[in-house]
Amino acid sequence: MKRHVPIGVLLSGGGTNLQAIIDAIEQDRLDAEIRTVVSNRESAYGLTRARNHDIPTTVIDHRGHASREAYDQVVVEHLQSQGVELVVLAGFMRLLSPYFVQSFPNRIMNIHPALSPAFAGLHGQRQAFEYGVRFAGCTVHFVSEGCDEGPIIIQAVVPVLPDDTEETLAQRILAQEHRIYPRAIQLYSEGRLVIEGRKVRVTGEDGDTRGETALVNPPLP
Ligand code: GAR
Repeated sequence: MKRHVPIGVLLSGGGTNLQAIIDAIEQDRLDAEIRTVVSNRESAYGLTRARNHDIPTTVIDHRGHASREAYDQVVVEHLQSQGVELVVLAGFMRLLSPYFVQSFPNRIMNIHPALSPAFAGLHGQRQAFEYGVRFAGCTVHFVSEGCDEGPIIIQAVVPVLPDDTEETLAQRILAQEHRIYPRAIQLYSEGRLVIEGRKVRVTGEDGDTRGETALVNPPLP
């Protein structure tokens, strides 16, 4: 029997990345078991997505806690009580305290809708759109104590097209998020992610980028 890594998913909103992870598990592309889905917001639609698949959910409201760390202690305790090994941040719109990060050393992943280290923080897609970059994208990384930083596991790049709006660009990025997040978790589950300082080495990687060595936008004639 293959090992199924026990994960806990933290979210604050719609949960399309959670859905992509659920779908990958159900389609046997991802050897993981979602032990719990935690939201800081009762109204997060991601909770409904989890319930639709009989996945346990917990709302831990961030309001009413004396400090960020006091809140994080409750969340960490819950995750540990469910036997979570890997914490998966999927649109969890809260900064983690050092206490949280140290409680799961090298065992927290985040997805950010930008090509890190560019455009950290809120609305990575909007920042990229307004800056006028020709390529945007998304990043899955291990979480360190800074915001949207930490060793990079996988990235996907998308072009910014002439008639894009912030919304069409965000949709193009989101479609790639749904491909790379399950893949990053699968690589973890297979024990293939080795953190070496700032970098992540993926063992067994053949270096084949499927024929693509460079992308140019606008394209060369
Ligand atoms: C995603 O685009 C994710 O990259 C972003 O929140 C969205 C959640 O969407 N996360 C961040 O901006 C973290 N800094 P979802 O709820 O549909 O998965």
